[in-house]
Amino acid sequence: MFVEEKTSLAVEIESLVKKYGNDRSALLTILHEIQKQHRYISDYAQQEIARHLNIHPVEVYSVISFYAFLNSEPKGRNIVRICRTVSCEMKGKEALEKAIERELGIRIGETTKDKKFTVEYANCLGLCDVAPAMSINDRVYTRLTPEKAVQLLNEVK
Ligand code: FES
Repeated sequence: MFVEEKTSLAVEIESLVKKYGNDRSALLTILHEIQKQHRYISDYAQQEIARHLNIHPVEVYSVISFYAFLNSEPKGRNIVRICRTVSCEMKGKEALEKAIERELGIRIGETTKDKKFTVEYANCLGLCDVAPAMSINDRVYTRLTPEKAVQLLNEVK
């Protein structure tokens, strides 16, 4: 099974390189496509991409680490991001965080065992006047209470 996965990923990367070129300027686009398809970029994918673009795998990894939307580890199907910037911090971010950690049984930065949720911090989500805020996938929720946050998680569950 592993060999099959490896082969199909290798084929996928090869066709992306054909489509976007093997210049280093294609790196971000290729990473984006792999992320979109697999929700993370495995070590194997990183090595394959590096090989095709003729760059060092460390360079690929450093690009992945730089961008918050790229991951080198598998994440949950739902990404919860709690704003940790000053307005939200002052308006109850900590209580929110504790309630979410308790509800999901994980700490910030972790993924639930069933891979349903990953919880992370985010910097200002641009809605400071209606803090505290958090996002679940592409949607941002504001004026949250710990109860409301837990309710939202249960709706996604
Ligand atoms: S500080 Fe949280 S949304 Fe701006």
